[in-house]
Amino acid sequence: MQLLDGKLTANTLKDEIAIEVNSIIAKGGKKPHLAAILVGSNGASETYVNAKVKACDKVGFDSTLVRLDANVSEEILLNEVRKINENSAIDGLIVQLPLPKHISESKVTEKIVPEKDVDGFHPINLGRMMLNLPSFLPATPAGILELLERYEIETSGKHCVVIGRSNIVGSPMSVLMARNTKIGNCTVTLTHSRTTNLKEISRTADILIVALGKPEFVTADMVKEGAVIVDVGITRVKSEITKSGWKLKGDVAFDEVAPKCSFITPVPGGVGPMTIASLLKNTLISAKQRK
Ligand code: GUN
Repeated sequence: MQLLDGKLTANTLKDEIAIEVNSIIAKGGKKPHLAAILVGSNGASETYVNAKVKACDKVGFDSTLVRLDANVSEEILLNEVRKINENSAIDGLIVQLPLPKHISESKVTEKIVPEKDVDGFHPINLGRMMLNLPSFLPATPAGILELLERYEIETSGKHCVVIGRSNIVGSPMSVLMARNTKIGNCTVTLTHSRTTNLKEISRTADILIVALGKPEFVTADMVKEGAVIVDVGITRVKSEITKSGWKLKGDVAFDEVAPKCSFITPVPGGVGPMTIASLLKNTLISAKQRK
């Protein structure tokens, strides 16, 4: 079994991005600039957004964090999006999800101009992805593709099973793994909460991508010997061992599953850091297109 080390790979990718930023600045260009909007103070969202801002700093990007109260009206949020859309100094905008229930996520997502939608959630970017046209790919699926590519995982002709059909991960991941691209050409099965025979299906996966948000859902009996496992889950659970009182758990029961696999992502240190690095990569691409 070999670890798919997302932390290490993300650091390599961030080093490559930092080199590009330096060369842009050396030629008199401006630093790429990412803006993030955080509504409310959901603990996990706060952690993710802070990590994104910190990563911007590490690669030499400017960043702006707009914090809005959990009770903010949809109108005020949409107006913040509009201001950033119109701000020519900003190259990329993300609105951290989930949003409070009184705000329509799709309305907000559709308000972001596709050219600055570095999360790749706008229908135009998702539509372009479906058609295999240049687009911003959603950061988590893009990070997984990058990780599989850098570890030279053979995907062509393999059976890829995706567990979870979210707009952010499962659905786009299933499309990307089936595309006629270097990391792609899989036969894909997309499974979800209504799938009746999940274990029989997951046991046939050469590549198993798990993104349903249920800690340790995938157990050893659900996995084929030699499979490649990508664990997107990241749930904070109470722990008596850690100083903080919390521990991060993936959707895969790592200790029992790892001995059966050829490759597996750890949690933390797997998909999470790759998501952030992919967001930076999208922002760099956006900044270069703005010239
Ligand atoms: N919430 C969970 N993952 C993501 C992500 O990749 N982008 C945004 N904006 N919100 C998220």
